[in-house]
Amino acid sequence: KKKTSITSLLKKKQNGEKFTALTAYDTSFAQIFDEQGIDVILIGDSLGMVLQGNNDTLKVTIDDMAYHTRCVAAGASSAFILADMPFMSYATPEQACLNAAKLMQAGAQMVKLEGAAWLKETIETLTQRSVPVCAHLGLTPQSVHVFGGYKIQGRENNAAQQMIQDAIDLEKAGAQMILLECVPASLAKAITEAVSVPVCGIGAGADTDGQVLVMHDILGISSGYIPKFSKNYLTETGDIRKAVTQFITEVSEGAFPATEHIFE
Ligand code: KIV
Ligand code: NA
Repeated sequence: KKKTSITSLLKKKQNGEKFTALTAYDTSFAQIFDEQGIDVILIGDSLGMVLQGNNDTLKVTIDDMAYHTRCVAAGASSAFILADMPFMSYATPEQACLNAAKLMQAGAQMVKLEGAAWLKETIETLTQRSVPVCAHLGLTPQSVHVFGGYKIQGRENNAAQQMIQDAIDLEKAGAQMILLECVPASLAKAITEAVSVPVCGIGAGADTDGQVLVMHDILGISSGYIPKFSKNYLTETGDIRKAVTQFITEVSEGAFPATEHIFE
């Protein structure tokens, strides 16, 4: 199987085929997910929580991200490698360039940044300098202390309209992918239709072009608590590889996310 590129993900969107993504942080899991046919592996700064034991993502450094990106890239021969830029590593366009370079050189094919209108200049700068960007909108966990908790975003009409405009503006600025976290399904659908780049969702309903989940959630590793929008595929299948293929099958057939995983 050849390496997944942004072009192959875009083609899937255009053909109405769903793509699948999972987080991974090391070579062994990356290899398993890759072999089962996951399209995208995200080295998420969620590693601050699931690997480092913090209750937010703010303590993760660019060197942490580069290290885990190298580990994952070594294990993934066909999956597309998407890596998170951690908190405050892209405060200015110049810092964003220096730090994104570390992730690209560690093996990332695209970097993900959290934010809306203020990111336009940064996204322009990065893409002009050959760093592909995914813009993360909705519940952006690096802003947890601004939000006052991990809460669904875009529920009010004004906020929803603004998010649609932000997605359009960030695509114009050069973003080649959009990620939506914890937004109402109807809003995620509107954004997915409003932009031409692939939209990946988590807790964003069934109509985004792709679905991403945190590996610790689908494998029931996270200490008991599983978010409403996630699903434990390990108890159902009893096997890590089968859990991954079950997730892929359910996403492609439209069986995941189901009503109980969706915010309206
Ligand atoms: O860090 C992460 O795992 C993420 C996903 C939840 C989208 O950003
Ligand atoms: Na993240």
